Amino acid sequence: MSIATSIVELKAWTPEVAAIETETNQLPWPIDTLKSCFSHGYQNFGVYSNEHKQLLGFIIVHQPMPDEWTIMNVVISSAFQRQGFGKKLVGYVCDLALAANASVFLEVRESNQAAIELYTQLGFKNLGRRKGYYPTALGDHEDAIVMQRSSA
Ligand SMILES: CC(C)(COP(=O)(O)OP(=O)(O)OC[C@H]1O[C@@H](n2cnc3c(N)ncnc32)[C@H](O)[C@@H]1OP(=O)(O)O)[C@@H](O)C(=O)NCCC(=O)NCCS
Repeated sequence: MSIATSIVELKAWTPEVAAIETETNQLPWPIDTLKSCFSHGYQNFGVYSNEHKQLLGFIIVHQPMPDEWTIMNVVISSAFQRQGFGKKLVGYVCDLALAANASVFLEVRESNQAAIELYTQLGFKNLGRRKGYYPTALGDHEDAIVMQRSSA
C-alpha cells in the first residue's frame, strides 16, 4: 500500500535530518555541515508521511544565484526507499527551478547508479566528471559525475 506524503519546506534545522543522513549513508555528512545548510542561500525540503507526520527524507538545495541552483544532498530513509519519494522530492525542486528560470546542478558518485538513473529520468544530463572527488569507505577515492538540468 502506498504511503500518502506531503512535501514541506524545512525552514530550520531538525535532528531528524541528521538521523536519516547517518542511518542511510556509509560516509554521512558531519552534523555541523548539515546544520550550516540551514542558513541564508539554501532552500531545503522534507517529505513527510501524512498519517504520522514522520520525516521520510530530505533535499538540500543551494541557491548561490537566482538562476543557478545546486542539489547538495538528497536522502530517503532506508525503510522508505524505492517508493518514489526521492523522485518526488527532486522533481518538486526541478519544477520550482523551472518556474524560477534556474538551471539545477549536482554531483553524484560514479558508483551511485540508482541516483544517476533517478536524475536521468528527470532530465538531468551528464556534464562531465571530477576526478577522485569523493572519498570512499575503503579510504580510496572515486569520481563525481556532474549533472545539469537546464532551465530551457
Ligand atoms: C538515491 C535515493 C535518494 C533514491 O530515492 P528513492 O526514493 O529510493 O528513489 P525512487 O523510488 O524515487 O526511485 C526513482 C528511480 O530511481 C532509480 N532507483 C532508485 N533506487 C534504485 C535502486 N536501489 N536500484 C536501482 N535503481 C534505483 C529507479 O530508476 C527508480 O525508478 P523505478 O522505481 O520506477 O525503477 C535513495 O536511494 C537514497 O537516499 N540513497 C542514499 C543517499 C544517496 O545516494 N543520495 C544521492 C546523493 S547524490
